[in-house]
Amino acid sequence: MSLQLGRKEFGNPEDKGNVLTREEANTILTEWVKNEKLLLHMKQVGALMYHWAKDKEGLDEAGAWKWEMAGILHDADWDQWPDQHCKKIIEELESRHIDPEIIHAIASHGPLHFGVEPVTKMDKMLYAFDELSGLVHAYSLMRPEGYAGMELKGVKKRLKEKSFAASVSREDIADGCQRAGIELDELIHFIIQKQPTVTLS
Ligand SMILES: [Fe+2]
Repeated sequence: MSLQLGRKEFGNPEDKGNVLTREEANTILTEWVKNEKLLLHMKQVGALMYHWAKDKEGLDEAGAWKWEMAGILHDADWDQWPDQHCKKIIEELESRHIDPEIIHAIASHGPLHFGVEPVTKMDKMLYAFDELSGLVHAYSLMRPEGYAGMELKGVKKRLKEKSFAASVSREDIADGCQRAGIELDELIHFIIQKQPTVTLS
């Protein structure tokens, strides 16, 4: 199964600035995604993107929503169409004339799989957060106290244990950090701080 997208251009430059409302984005998720673990994962990545955009990039609400939107929709097609992963959501957003910047971020969230390089900071942060947030969440599930008191060194220990959350790609994590130009420790700290409050309700 190849997930290569086979193109580098996404969306239409004339659609710059167009976004979905939160309600529209949530409707796509409700209709497309039945798997609650996946839904939570996308909400977590969306929240990390939102907070990073506001706290670290200094963006306003509208700017941060674009980052969040890329996060909450990046795996929207994985549940029902795994063999068309990324293609399906990209085509949906293109048909709705969504800002190419958001579509490009989704298209480049797995450069080793989709063949699209992350270019913008939004692209790079989505890639950097994706797998790492999953590993931190898996770690919270095995701790009796969940996220409470979680420390950097515990996360790094799990990261080194290849058998722990084995489906989380360590290669993507290392590559994502490097491309984003951010230290792994800083990213883990940020996730430990921002991820615990995200819930499905
Ligand atoms: Fe993901």
